[in-house]
Amino acid sequence: MSLIYDYSNPTAIHFGKGQIASIIKYLSKDNKILLVYGGGSIKKNGVYDEVLSALEGYDYLEFSGVESNPTYETLSKAVELAKSEKVDFILAVGGGSVIDGSKYIAAASVYDGDAWDFLEGISAPEKALPLGAILTLPATGSESNMNAVVSKKATNEKRFFGSPYVYPKFAVLDPIVMATLSDRQLANGLVDAFVHTCEQYLTCPNTSLLHDGYSETILKGLFALAKDWENRKDIIWQENLMLLANQALNGFIGSGVVQDWATHMIGHELTAFYGVDHAQSLAVVQPQLLRVMIEEKSEKLAQMGENVFGIKDDNEAVIVAIEEMYQSIGVTTNLNDYERVDDKVIEKVIPSLKAHGMTAIGENQNITLEVSEKILRMAMK
Ligand code: NZQ
Ligand code: ZN
Repeated sequence: MSLIYDYSNPTAIHFGKGQIASIIKYLSKDNKILLVYGGGSIKKNGVYDEVLSALEGYDYLEFSGVESNPTYETLSKAVELAKSEKVDFILAVGGGSVIDGSKYIAAASVYDGDAWDFLEGISAPEKALPLGAILTLPATGSESNMNAVVSKKATNEKRFFGSPYVYPKFAVLDPIVMATLSDRQLANGLVDAFVHTCEQYLTCPNTSLLHDGYSETILKGLFALAKDWENRKDIIWQENLMLLANQALNGFIGSGVVQDWATHMIGHELTAFYGVDHAQSLAVVQPQLLRVMIEEKSEKLAQMGENVFGIKDDNEAVIVAIEEMYQSIGVTTNLNDYERVDDKVIEKVIPSLKAHGMTAIGENQNITLEVSEKILRMAMK
């Protein structure tokens, strides 16, 4: 079947050293800007100072403390502030959590009801304040996509929404800011970008040489970075991760092709209940999901084996190669390695998947709750 799709990515990218200063192209002295950031890493690595010096003479206020896996509870305070101060531009400085949280703030600040509605799918944003992003952790692609993932502490939920209104107007990707990232964060970024690409590529065959070739370039690039892990502090290594993670989820490789996303849906529940990092959740779910779906995915697994890992006619070996890649950069593929994971995984996650309508997921909608349970049991070795 030939491809049919609409694609538009309106986010302007400013890549490279010194690009933080370019944010003023998008701001006016009449703007009331809300500068949103996380727990303070930007104050330790000079990013905060650089942003403040770009904002000199502009009218801005700050909202800090957006946590990893940003919560409705925290973001609601920012929404209140944005409304009362009549903020008209949101500037996100951080990783996926801060940028996702800022997307929520941008849409919720011009919404009359309780914006958790967006996460429940009860309503969709019809407008949003303009927002811009300064990325400090390459992983999610949030800096130039239309998705946001928000958690609700009160109910242990992690949900998502997507809206074209929350595409950032611009994204600054300066790899220099990555110098302070820990090994854990670098590894998480690599794994997340790898799984994003797989969710859009490792499904069923398609006719586009461009989509598959592009995805394979991203996968090969990430695999090369994993093999070159010892040089992860090198600016070229870090610059490559920033480029690859951005392209993995800016919408293009997924346009017009069948997508999976079941690993993400199951992984989000693990983070909601156990607080494991987003990428850590993916690394335990994905290999087992691939094993369970090995027949459905056989053609693409074989193609990936040959074009990414140089493995011929052995799809189990491809899955093992993925596991070994994650393990080689310090990310376990065994859920039981996380101490806070108890023996209630199935009884917590399965009803929650059901409540969130995740009863027939994956590219063929055949990952039922029973299949998800099987995958989770296999992930606890
Ligand atoms: O809070 P701060 O101080 O900023 O510290 C953060 C945080 O502790 C720190 N950090 C960020 N940049 C740093 C740094 N530390 C030192 N130096 C720097 N330059 O790193 C920690 C993790 O940050 P976080 O933003 O939580 O990580 P990530 O970028 O992986 O984002 C994860 C969130 O994004 C969602 C995930 O579910 C999760 O909630 N996702 C968003 C997607 C999207 N919008 O398209 C897709 C993804 O699949 C994902 O679901
Ligand atoms: Zn992800």
